[in-house]
Amino acid sequence: MNTKLVAPSLLAADFGNLQRDVEMVNKSDADWHHIDVMDGVFVPNISYGMPVVKAIAKHATKPLDVHLMIVDPDRYIKTFAELGASILSVHYEACTHLHRTLQAIKAEGMKAGVALNPHTSVHLLEDTIQDIDLVCMMSVNPGFGGQSFIENTYQKVSDLKNLIKKKNSKALIEIDGGVNATNAKKLVDAGADVLVAGSFVFKSENPTATIKTLKEEIA
Ligand code: DX5
Ligand code: ZN
Repeated sequence: MNTKLVAPSLLAADFGNLQRDVEMVNKSDADWHHIDVMDGVFVPNISYGMPVVKAIAKHATKPLDVHLMIVDPDRYIKTFAELGASILSVHYEACTHLHRTLQAIKAEGMKAGVALNPHTSVHLLEDTIQDIDLVCMMSVNPGFGGQSFIENTYQKVSDLKNLIKKKNSKALIEIDGGVNATNAKKLVDAGADVLVAGSFVFKSENPTATIKTLKEEIA
């Protein structure tokens, strides 16, 4: 896949103007809506749950890329399919039976994603990479927006890219956390396909223009 994608993270949106911010993404050059669901157990923060995802889905016109930072994600696979998720990512660290979880996500008609914490080696995906549609590589410790990018990510991206090639997998590499115009191109050069950006987009003066800048950086 040659086109590189940008997925603004709505975690950094203005929740008092959620419809406005979702519509901004609709009209922008962005490719997906990135939706962060946190349970206060897997990560030390609670973001939003089903009613908010439902409200986002009602207004969104682009694919919903849902990132579950929750324990026992199997319990909610069907619910997120019904809410309209196109891609559902679960954390490697939260799945005892990852292969089974991936099959369950696909059985509901969604693309199956696996998110990796910064400390989790990409080599742990050796035996599942062929079943994975997207690897969401965390470039910050999950739980909060606005954190600094972890530099070791570049090495992990190129290691993962090699694994994907070796195993003939079609998995896309998504980078999540601290993405901005300074690291975007370097990430794509290392092998990234999708860049998630929260604060960099929504805390900027002109989010639409910021999304355009990011897309241009990685074109
Ligand atoms: C962090 C979330 C990210 C977050 C990214 O736990 O998974 O998607 O919203 O936000 P920024 O781009 O501000 O680091
Ligand atoms: Zn995320």
